[in-house]
Amino acid sequence: MSHDDFPTEKPAVVTCGLPYANGDLHIGHLRTYVSGDAYARSLEKLGQRTAFVSGSDMHGTPVAVNAEEAGVSPEEFALEHHEKYAETFPRFNVEFDNYGHTHDETNTELTQEFVRSWIDNDHVFEKEIQVAWDPEADTPLPDRYVEGTCPYCGAKARGDECDEGCQRHLEPGEIEDPRSTLTGNPAEYRAREHEFLRLSDFQEYLAGFIDRLEGTSNARNQPREWIEGELQDLCITRDMDWGIDYPGEGKEDLVLYVWVDAPIEYVASTKQYTERVGEDVFDWEEVWKDGAPEAGSEGDADDETWEAADTGEIVHVVGRDIIQHHTVFWPSMLRGAGYNEPRAVMASGFVNLDGQAFSTSRNRAVWADDYLDEGFHPDLVRYYLTTTGGFQQDVDFSWEKFQERVNGELVGTLGNFAYRSLLFAARNYEGTPEADASDEVAERIEEAVADFEAAVNDYSLKEAGEAAVSLAGFGNEYIQRNEPWNLTDDDPDRAEQVIYDCVQLAKAVAVLSAPILPGKAQRLWEQLGEEGSVHDAALDACLEPPADEFGEPDELFEKIADERVEELNEKLQERVEAATEDGDEGTAETEEDESMSDDTDIEPIDEDRISFEEFQDLDVRVGEIEVAEPIEGADDLARLEVDIGVETRQIVAGIKQLHDLEKLPGTKVVVVANLEQAELFGVESNGMVLAAGEDADLLTTHGDSGPGTKVK
Ligand code: 2FM
Ligand code: ZN
Repeated sequence: MSHDDFPTEKPAVVTCGLPYANGDLHIGHLRTYVSGDAYARSLEKLGQRTAFVSGSDMHGTPVAVNAEEAGVSPEEFALEHHEKYAETFPRFNVEFDNYGHTHDETNTELTQEFVRSWIDNDHVFEKEIQVAWDPEADTPLPDRYVEGTCPYCGAKARGDECDEGCQRHLEPGEIEDPRSTLTGNPAEYRAREHEFLRLSDFQEYLAGFIDRLEGTSNARNQPREWIEGELQDLCITRDMDWGIDYPGEGKEDLVLYVWVDAPIEYVASTKQYTERVGEDVFDWEEVWKDGAPEAGSEGDADDETWEAADTGEIVHVVGRDIIQHHTVFWPSMLRGAGYNEPRAVMASGFVNLDGQAFSTSRNRAVWADDYLDEGFHPDLVRYYLTTTGGFQQDVDFSWEKFQERVNGELVGTLGNFAYRSLLFAARNYEGTPEADASDEVAERIEEAVADFEAAVNDYSLKEAGEAAVSLAGFGNEYIQRNEPWNLTDDDPDRAEQVIYDCVQLAKAVAVLSAPILPGKAQRLWEQLGEEGSVHDAALDACLEPPADEFGEPDELFEKIADERVEELNEKLQERVEAATEDGDEGTAETEEDESMSDDTDIEPIDEDRISFEEFQDLDVRVGEIEVAEPIEGADDLARLEVDIGVETRQIVAGIKQLHDLEKLPGTKVVVVANLEQAELFGVESNGMVLAAGEDADLLTTHGDSGPGTKVK
């Protein structure tokens, strides 16, 4: 890829992390899919030729364990869920160009081709390892069949992932205190021969890759320490029946590890898209293969071959728990088979419900089907999930917060502007009055278009959404300021000008909001009397003359009443209570459920009160961040230089993976200035920056208090 701004000459593929085909979808799961869809639509809006693909992840223990509990074969179980997902996504306006699954022929063949290519290029070796074994059931215990303690952080972990702690991938045999999930017995270890992808072959390549990688800062920063340390080779086989057969000779009893065939589905799904629409419309090889340096030539750290490579653009949209898979394993897998590397990884935070993790076992979730059955339009939750907080931050969903954003931004700003403008235009002029856009309005639209383009190039859906909503906000202010209702009699030309401007603004709002609000933007487009689909309209359409005629509009959005919120909260509460009373542990939790975040309640207030004098001992000041940079080798730590009025302080803060450090300079923060000095990772820290919760939500001020102002 070029690393030029989008749109580029080459086609792009946007992918979403494959959902395990093992449970019902709730709105926490939907974040990745609505974001991937909105990002793919945004690229297309810029004029980038884009395919949007994904598929269901059918293999591995996440499916096998749940299928066993349901008493059906993994294939039947996974296919049933796959079909359900394929039906559900479009109901949220998530329109994949291709949605396949990992068990189909295309993926099976392609996966085996990848593995053969690694074997041919001498990246695969065999090794005897100790695998967990259940002595009573006399069976091997791959991945989710074993639980224990993470050797890196001490958290409770699954066989192949530290899902509740540091999120690292764990290799077979690494987990400590292993216990079988089949019988609860302590597991033994037994020697077995397995196949490994030699990741160390790609160490230097990965160092260059990570410097080139775009996307969210967590995906670009977090892998550095893994890549800089010694890379552990990846065991690519498992002792299981369910999966894709390992293609090497004499290894018929082994299947490939699920994380081998899962990402290859990104390629397989694009290939299926090409097979359906033809190479002239979209050529999968142009993105995935053409221009890639040959396999077998890896190892150049500075990798001029890559700098010069003229390849397609690959953008992966995933949850932050699978950063390592997409920035270490997957690029090595691609490189080892002579495929192109990703241009960007966008790794989102998790979604919580009222401050706690979603819990399927306690039925504490807003299920995708239930959300729609309640009569809510899919675009509302799309808007909430894509524009609440930065992409890499966790999002908290509650019906109250949802109501606030819907009633405020969608009803009050966007919907209100569109309705009042189009109603006035339709009643007084039967459509768009004769005029041209004023300079003021044309410039404001150009600014919104530029903001949208910058947001897409910055991988920020929140800012892309803001470009549209703040343009509508400007529209409201413009119509209010110019009062066309007072001009129609005294200054009809001016009234026509103002209303023309408003219709033009509404048209631009429709175009810019289409990626995030695809259904509502199309409705607005139709209300504007425009032909065809708003999704085919390029950004230039924002300033093209609006249609001459249109009728009276109806309101785009409806307010959510307080009673409705109460009712929804009660329903949720009743469901949780019913599940608790039944002692119903339900189906096993899906991987996302358990990895959403720690399933803890809000901490109780400390009963030990302090005196006012004790509080006054704290010297808390307003500060302004001047410099923010990662501390190399430290997982979470960043070095900040903070202006606190009297001086600039160096402060070490645990915010590295939670904030885009490049964007922090200029941010006002609250600093405990008289905290004793400390040294963290060899860096002196001289104070503490206050932040809330797991996401290190930085405390700030909302007025003009400058650096050094005392906080009391
Ligand atoms: O973590 C998960 O839910 C996996 N099913 C994601 C797979 S994404 C991929 F294909 F790489
Ligand atoms: Zn861990």
